[in-house]
Amino acid sequence: MEPGFWRARWSEGRIGFHEGRPNAHLQRHLDVLAGVRRVFVPLCGKAEDLAFLAAAGHEVVGVELVEDAVRAFFAEHGLEPSVSRDGPFARYAHGNLALLAGDVFEATPERLGTFDGWYDRAALIALPPPLRTFYVPHLRTLLSPGATGLLVTVEYDQAQREGPPFSVEEDEVRSRFSGMDVQLLDDVPADRFGDLPSREKCFALRVGQGATP
Ligand SMILES: C[S@@+](CC[C@H](N)C(=O)[O-])C[C@H]1O[C@@H](n2cnc3c(N)ncnc32)[C@H](O)[C@@H]1O
Repeated sequence: MEPGFWRARWSEGRIGFHEGRPNAHLQRHLDVLAGVRRVFVPLCGKAEDLAFLAAAGHEVVGVELVEDAVRAFFAEHGLEPSVSRDGPFARYAHGNLALLAGDVFEATPERLGTFDGWYDRAALIALPPPLRTFYVPHLRTLLSPGATGLLVTVEYDQAQREGPPFSVEEDEVRSRFSGMDVQLLDDVPADRFGDLPSREKCFALRVGQGATP
């Protein structure tokens, strides 16, 4: 999607993707990230998941295109972040949580360091197939050997509805993250699109120790 698409969604308040509470899969499977020090949260919006992960003791770094969403996160939590410039990003930080306003494709290991964990809810599925082809290899450059991720996807008949969110089938997850250990944790009916059947899946992804992400 063009940046303008997301900017319009935020400025017009069309943010049906925002759950307003920690995601159910994340709550159920937080233990997957046990022992992870730094969690990367791409396309983070103003998700409650950010606060939930930070409260669990992780150092959390989110990247969100729309700066108003980042500001809204801190305002809604009654937090006054420090604000600084970090290359192409505006960096909003408080305690163990930093949100970078800017394009995830500008997030490099040189700028952000590497992460031993990541959490993706509504990031991979927010991107059309050609962008997913760039996104996953890009994400992988930010991971350290042994990194662990939690990924939430949705599956439905793409012929019946345009994304986002896009349907990302389990086979696609396994192929895009090939070389990682991919474990299906949840597979539940989602009731996301009225009469159109859909399922949500949650995966644990693990880069082997000593393996290249
Ligand atoms: C479907 S929303 C999901 C937000 C969040 N993960 C959640 O669960 O509420 C996708 C978010 O990605 C942001 N986004 C889209 N393209 C982006 C990009 N290239 N870099 C950073 N953020 C992006 C959008 O502004 C939007 O807030």
